[in-house]
Amino acid sequence: MGNKKFLSTSVGKKVAMAITGQCFCAFLVVHLAGNLTLFLGQKQFDMYAGQLEKLPMLVYPAEAVLILLALFHIGAALKLTLENKSARPVGYAVYKSKAAGDWASSKMFITGVFILGFLVLHLIQFKFGERPDGSLYNTVFSAFTQPLWVGVYVAFIAILSTHLSHGFQSAFQSLGINHPKYTPIIKKTSYVYAFVMWAGYTSIPLWIFINDFVARSSS
Ligand code: HEM
Repeated sequence: MGNKKFLSTSVGKKVAMAITGQCFCAFLVVHLAGNLTLFLGQKQFDMYAGQLEKLPMLVYPAEAVLILLALFHIGAALKLTLENKSARPVGYAVYKSKAAGDWASSKMFITGVFILGFLVLHLIQFKFGERPDGSLYNTVFSAFTQPLWVGVYVAFIAILSTHLSHGFQSAFQSLGINHPKYTPIIKKTSYVYAFVMWAGYTSIPLWIFINDFVARSSS
């Protein structure tokens, strides 16, 4: 079977979602590691961002890959959701087991739509937004001194974590990795991964907000 034909099957789409989803999981780890340099201070974070800007040969292809991954991930998700909706359950037993699967896929679809909305907002704000004094650190800092942005990020990161905690483990199932010994370990790893992403990303807006609040109250 050719690649195009394989991708048109529902197994093919699930495999595409699994692989692209795992690539996003890896991106989130790298992005978090970079963002955590915010804790080291303005000089270090702006130096890190400046180094990336000096590497267009690395950054542009990586961005192109991210866009392609997103197109495949979202395209496969949309097609699978539409196919699931048009498939009719036959009989009670099928209905019951399908209902649980339907709830999981609906939850993944809805949280996925939220993540896409967040990404558009996030890129407008930090990637394409104005940097009044040229410092990315100050741009991030000034956003997270505002309770509205802290609330928006904390809420979206919680939504992202629920998507990750299910997506990470179901990717293994889609790739046919289903074993009585390893599946429970994969499930636990999935929850740990989602928790680390939640804690890591949430810590940034909260830390900036609390620091700024304390500094302003004591001055
Ligand atoms: C507190 C949380 C976060 C902070 C402080 C943050 C910070 C940033 C900053 C400063 C940039 C611009 C980098 C540059 O222009 O050099 C950026 C880009 C980006 N962020 Fe985030 N981010 C956060 C969470 C997230 C999350 C949860 C996602 C994914 C769902 C995400 C996905 C992206 C993507 C895809 C880019 C564009 C990367 C590129 O084009 O090179 N970020 N982020």
